[in-house]
Amino acid sequence: MSVLISPLAESLPTFIQQHNYSAVAVLVDTNTKRFCYPAIKNFLPKHKIFTIPAGEQHKNLATCETVWQGLTNAQFDRHALLINLGGGVIGDLGGFCAATYKRGIDFIQIPTTLLSQVDASVGGKLGIDFHGFKNHIGVFKLPEAVLIDTAFFQTLPELELRSGFAEIVKHCLIADGAKWNIIRRRDLHDQDWNDLVAHSVEIKKNIVGQDPTERGIRKILNFGHTLGHALETHFLADPKRRLLHGEAIAAGMIAEAFIAHRKGMIQAGLLEQIEEYLFAVYGRVTIADTDLEPVLALTLQDKKNRNGQVRMALLDGPGSCAYDVPVTKAEMSRALEYYRT
Ligand SMILES: NC(=O)c1ccc[n+]([C@@H]2O[C@H](COP(=O)([O-])OP(=O)(O)OC[C@H]3O[C@@H](n4cnc5c(N)ncnc54)[C@H](O)[C@@H]3O)[C@@H](O)[C@H]2O)c1
Ligand SMILES: [Zn+2]
Repeated sequence: MSVLISPLAESLPTFIQQHNYSAVAVLVDTNTKRFCYPAIKNFLPKHKIFTIPAGEQHKNLATCETVWQGLTNAQFDRHALLINLGGGVIGDLGGFCAATYKRGIDFIQIPTTLLSQVDASVGGKLGIDFHGFKNHIGVFKLPEAVLIDTAFFQTLPELELRSGFAEIVKHCLIADGAKWNIIRRRDLHDQDWNDLVAHSVEIKKNIVGQDPTERGIRKILNFGHTLGHALETHFLADPKRRLLHGEAIAAGMIAEAFIAHRKGMIQAGLLEQIEEYLFAVYGRVTIADTDLEPVLALTLQDKKNRNGQVRMALLDGPGSCAYDVPVTKAEMSRALEYYRT
């Protein structure tokens, strides 16, 4: 699978010319139809367009049925192509629909959010949420290509850009200490997106390539995500306090860096750098006393745990990360306390 980072005016026509598809469809949500589809439609042969409502709440089976129905109504055969134009919701759901329609047709990802460019579109995980369980139904399958163009960020809401940036910070902290030293000296608006997206994609591709099904090293991509996911899930219930994924992961990275420091895995200087930078970019999530127990309880449901014990990916240096490190409830509790004050 190739990941191309270049203007779509170059990469998309080239891809289409190199293949001979019987039919082409584009899957968009209401936002990417408005903001992103105009930038690609002239590079496509005759095609169908399927539009779904925007938002994670539509990443479900009912939406898949509308996509499968659209493909069926248009009489798409097994030599057709589905182009997923949008963020991680479109990529995960569209990829899953393509991978299962008639036992699988080709699909390409054109990710339009920072998060989907540096994370969701790389690694082959596809799927949907099911009865409240996130990414519960899905498959591993690689797209024919991932075509990345950072020009899409021009219309991306600032909060979505900031959310995706947390994954870039994570990639630098777990795999490239020198790059961490570059990004932490710039604020969000002064980052070189083309350079950082290429850098992050390379890191994720490299890690996933070593361990596609997450038995070992791929687990380091979960740095910040044990406590981060627990916070994200906990605040989901309250629309006023809901966090974007990257906002929760930023908080998770601070708390988990504290745990790494307490375990003697990283020095105080690195912890200080991490918290100073992430608090400056993301602010501090307000965590009340009554939030602590439910958040800690949620970490016990983490997919990475073994025998009921929480296992974390923890930094063991700038640009270096260990995985499967056992962490106690008391350590997590102290870390949330530290984050709060
Ligand atoms: N497969 C994986 O490995 C993987 C990894 C990380 C996240 N994910 C999944 O990705 C999803 C989150 O991705 P996301 O943050 O991209 O969410 P998203 O797809 O919901 O996009 C966020 C919002 O931005 C809008 N949007 C997208 N591109 C735009 C643009 N260029 N201009 C203006 N608006 C635009 C969307 O319509 C949506 O409202 C989650 O479902 C998560 O589970 C998957
Ligand atoms: Zn993440």
